[in-house]
Amino acid sequence: METQDMDVLRFTTAGSVDDGKSTLIGRLMYDTQEIFEEKMEEIERNTQRDDEELELALLTDGLRAEREQGITIDVAYRYFSTPNRKFIIADTPGHEQYTRNMVTGASTAELAVELIDARNGVLEQTKRHGFITSLLQIPHVIVAVNKMDLVGYSEERFREIVAEYKDFAENLDVQDITFVPLSALKGDNVVHHSDNMPWYEGSTLLHRLETVRAEATRNQVDFRFPVQTTIRPHQDFRGFAGQVESGKIRPGEEVTILPTGYTSQVDTITTLDGDLDEAGPGESVVVTLDDEIDVSRGSMIVRSRNKPEVTRQLDADLCWMNEESMRQDRPYVLQHTTRRTQAYVSKIVYRTNVETFHREEADTFELNDIGRVEIETADPIFVDSYKINRSTGSFILIDPDTNDTVAAGMIRGVATDVTPYGKRTEPDVETETSPNVTWEGLQIPREEREKQNGHKAAVVWLTGLSGAGKSTIAKAVEERLFDEDIQTMMLDGDNVRHGLSGDLGFTPADRTENIRRVSEVARLFFEQGNVTMCSFVSPYREDRDRARELLPQDVRDRFLEVHVDCPLEVCKERDTKGLYAKAERGEIANFTGVSAPYEEPSDPDVVVNTDEDDVEACVDQIIEALEARGIV
Ligand code: ADX
Repeated sequence: METQDMDVLRFTTAGSVDDGKSTLIGRLMYDTQEIFEEKMEEIERNTQRDDEELELALLTDGLRAEREQGITIDVAYRYFSTPNRKFIIADTPGHEQYTRNMVTGASTAELAVELIDARNGVLEQTKRHGFITSLLQIPHVIVAVNKMDLVGYSEERFREIVAEYKDFAENLDVQDITFVPLSALKGDNVVHHSDNMPWYEGSTLLHRLETVRAEATRNQVDFRFPVQTTIRPHQDFRGFAGQVESGKIRPGEEVTILPTGYTSQVDTITTLDGDLDEAGPGESVVVTLDDEIDVSRGSMIVRSRNKPEVTRQLDADLCWMNEESMRQDRPYVLQHTTRRTQAYVSKIVYRTNVETFHREEADTFELNDIGRVEIETADPIFVDSYKINRSTGSFILIDPDTNDTVAAGMIRGVATDVTPYGKRTEPDVETETSPNVTWEGLQIPREEREKQNGHKAAVVWLTGLSGAGKSTIAKAVEERLFDEDIQTMMLDGDNVRHGLSGDLGFTPADRTENIRRVSEVARLFFEQGNVTMCSFVSPYREDRDRARELLPQDVRDRFLEVHVDCPLEVCKERDTKGLYAKAERGEIANFTGVSAPYEEPSDPDVVVNTDEDDVEACVDQIIEALEARGIV
């Protein structure tokens, strides 16, 4: 029977082909002296190099195929331990085709080790892994910068990679990232400190693995006990067996049984080792209740005052893991904790491009696609959002014909907008409007206006910190375009906030609303053939993405996200409006860069740097981008 996970750390590894993942795992296991004798002998037999550099990859070659193909092809679990902790590694392959394996391996991990080859730095592959790590809410990441021996143990190279990764990771939802320079092959900084990198004062990889706080990742608050079986050894005993997925419970507490809604009190909590005063996450127990009520496999026992959502409609992030693409016209089996029910994918909201983070429209999901969907189930299930409960917030979809797991899902919440169960319709791509408002078709189609204007319509969206120079550049671009007889429109933070958004402040919700209004106006201007300049701090990536998505799919490349980039320090120094000084004195709340966040564009169409280049040079860059897209 499994007990508390206090001294076990589950982690996953990811890297690109040849980053040395197998070698690293081998090194960890070898240096912690947990290698099986026979494995050792095999290595000695197979190693052709000198004894110093055992071919450690052989250690982890559970699957012959890896050596034949040069890639690991499945998830393999490996175990090793030190006096301080036990470790379970979900070893997942780095080859792009196998994103699904990474999802499988990472789904129970508390930490991810991301390998980077010091010679290559951050690759697309690294970004993909980072995205999945963030999606799966793995709380800790160790970036292992491997093969330091091949870059002369250069501190400078290490710093470069750290900066590069940090830059990209700003877009991720990962709490804790540490960096370790190492050589798995030579053993530097894996288990033993390296003399080759005296400049590195941090911990070794193993030390980090041994000391990272792991127990905090299980939800300790919300008691969720999915029932696996009913146990009835004799007439007088009826217990419900299962694993506590999260939260804690004691005898005497009032509980509710889902889906029936009956209530009772916990009488006893039993394990093989006797009765407990309290059961917590990860413990497998048998619970008895005061009353004889109907509980069976698939029921969930929860505390009466802390219930999950009971729903048939899910809003979820989904990773498709099957060669056969997703279909919306057929049912799958959805497995959620111990419960199974039929389910349809009722809507594809978007697919995420994991390299650029852009959201794309999609008709289906293919192998390894990740995105957001709505799902409708035949029976209600009892869910929490994945963010607060990885266990009751996740599910898998199974193909009923083949029994293959075809997708893994992370629940965001209850969907509000799914089609009635079983009635398949075309995915609805129109945005919601009031039923009494009809869209007034424009008299003159955009294409006609564009033909007459002699240029295309576009939205140029300038985002950046206050004082970065957005308005200055927008005005200069507009002047240039005006001189060329190009129809332009201007929407600017400062003037919009005097009228259209005069009722809004600077809380996150107000900013989102501000940007929503402006985006809608920009769309109208766009449809009327204008090159529309928008200059707003617009600090949230999601808001800017939504602005882009308002443009029709086929012309979405005419939305130019321009990052007006200027270091915060410089903006503060300029402080053209004196607002930074005020914000720092605490006189303005929620000030971007001081007391409110700014999310840099992850994949801007243009970046202008107002610290280094003058206004004209920045304007040139934007005009060139417009020309390159055939807009002007
Ligand atoms: S946004 O965040 O909603 O996009 P917007 O671009 O409209 O902001 O307005 C930003 C302008 O309002 C800034 O240029 C600045 O002059 C002013 N401002 C006043 N308070 C704040 C604040 N708390 N944060 C940022 N800008 C502020």
